[in-house]
Amino acid sequence: MIDVLLGLQWGDEGKGKIVDYLADKYDVIARFQGGPNAGHTLYVNGEKVVLHTIPSGVFHSHCLNLIGNGVVIDPVTLQAEMKKIVPLCPDLLSRLYVSQKAHLILPTHRALDAASEAAKGKDKIGSTLKGIGPAYMDKTGRNGLRVGDILSKNFKEKYDKLTQKHIDMLKQYDNVVEWKQWEAPFFEAIEELRKLQIVNGEYWLDMHLKAGKKILAEGAQGSMLDVDFGTYPFVTSSNTIAAGVCNGLGVAPSRIGEVYGITKAYCTRVGGGPFPTELHDETGEALRKAGSEFGATTGRPRRCGWIDLVALRYAVMLSGVTKLIVTKTDVLDQFTPIKAAVAYIADGIETEEFPYDVTDDASLTPVYKAFPGWDTPIAGISDYDQLPQVFKDYCSFVEEYLGTKIAYISNGTGRNQLIVIS
Ligand code: GDP
Ligand code: IMO
Ligand code: MG
Repeated sequence: MIDVLLGLQWGDEGKGKIVDYLADKYDVIARFQGGPNAGHTLYVNGEKVVLHTIPSGVFHSHCLNLIGNGVVIDPVTLQAEMKKIVPLCPDLLSRLYVSQKAHLILPTHRALDAASEAAKGKDKIGSTLKGIGPAYMDKTGRNGLRVGDILSKNFKEKYDKLTQKHIDMLKQYDNVVEWKQWEAPFFEAIEELRKLQIVNGEYWLDMHLKAGKKILAEGAQGSMLDVDFGTYPFVTSSNTIAAGVCNGLGVAPSRIGEVYGITKAYCTRVGGGPFPTELHDETGEALRKAGSEFGATTGRPRRCGWIDLVALRYAVMLSGVTKLIVTKTDVLDQFTPIKAAVAYIADGIETEEFPYDVTDDASLTPVYKAFPGWDTPIAGISDYDQLPQVFKDYCSFVEEYLGTKIAYISNGTGRNQLIVIS
């Protein structure tokens, strides 16, 4: 069976930390979508590491790591990432595998991302500008270049053809970034990519599954950024929900086992787009400070607000979450009251269903339930029974509302700052 771990909000729920913790129990960790827009933070011997394309199981010497076909790869950022972590992970090359069907992000994809965002003006998505959207557009538009192509003799020819197409597209924009300078590093990184273990990912996984190996699929972004079900068009360009695992790795739905869904005890979003429970006041500012809420990939301040149980229940439904993980609970230590959105008033009508159009936050008012704060540090607690009663009451309410049990509570950045419930 292949278990899945994914974010239930707008990303940055703490997936990196939890995968790093769970990796002990798995033989293979596989990324199934997204690309260098992701920033997964974990700590290795006290040192902070941010992974973008490489699966978060690399720091466990028994774990093999696959970058699946659903991922879009920028060879330059992948190289930079590998270089950074090799000192901490000397056997990286022997445990890293790349699907031949993963698509490549070209320098012109990044230029198109920047030009398209700039042209959107105030409606911009707040993309990480890593070339994600344009690369996935070429994938579904059937023009993309895949990792397997770099092994063919006419790769440069294919590259030139696609780049020329992009040059023509870029002509419609006013301020185009100088992307030519990115070509030489791109081709150098392609040479390095050629040296990696490039595999037929779906057969590779099938082989491991048949051998009884335990596999964990690691999601990037979050359910509310899913291209189909997120707050469209303020989303990323891939399927971030559990369904994305099947086409992002080439595994059948019948082989999916547990689905771990991660949520922060509050909520954040980075970039543009609707965020019904966003706090524009000093409480929002205090959450950002207490949670160090700054983007792991772009350094941008993250928007902060209360946990949104309406959006969460939607995400739990979409992915069939079997095990809930609540992170950053320690961040709420000093807050009272603590609030949770349990419904919205949309166009004057109360609803618990996530609405079709949330692009205009003004027409949507969250209905909150307030909980007393616990006003005591919980970061050092490792046993559920030792948690303050008000905290446990809050957890019980969340479980009941979502119809899913909490399996782990994270109360600090460290790998072992985790309360295991089931
Ligand atoms: P990801 O993209 O889902 O992997 O999450 P990020 O790494 O972008 O952001 C999560 C941030 O929260 C990182 O800086 C983590 O080190 C940190 N973090 C994760 N879990 C906890 C926790 O339980 N408590 C606190 N205080 N920080 C945490
Ligand atoms: P992890 O895996 C948070 C957001 C961007 C932007 C939108 C589209 O670390 O949770 P894109 O670059 O995909 O075109 O950006 O999605 N976004 C993320 N927000 N965490 C992420 O990944 C994100 N990846 C993309 O900020 O709003
Ligand atoms: Mg992140």
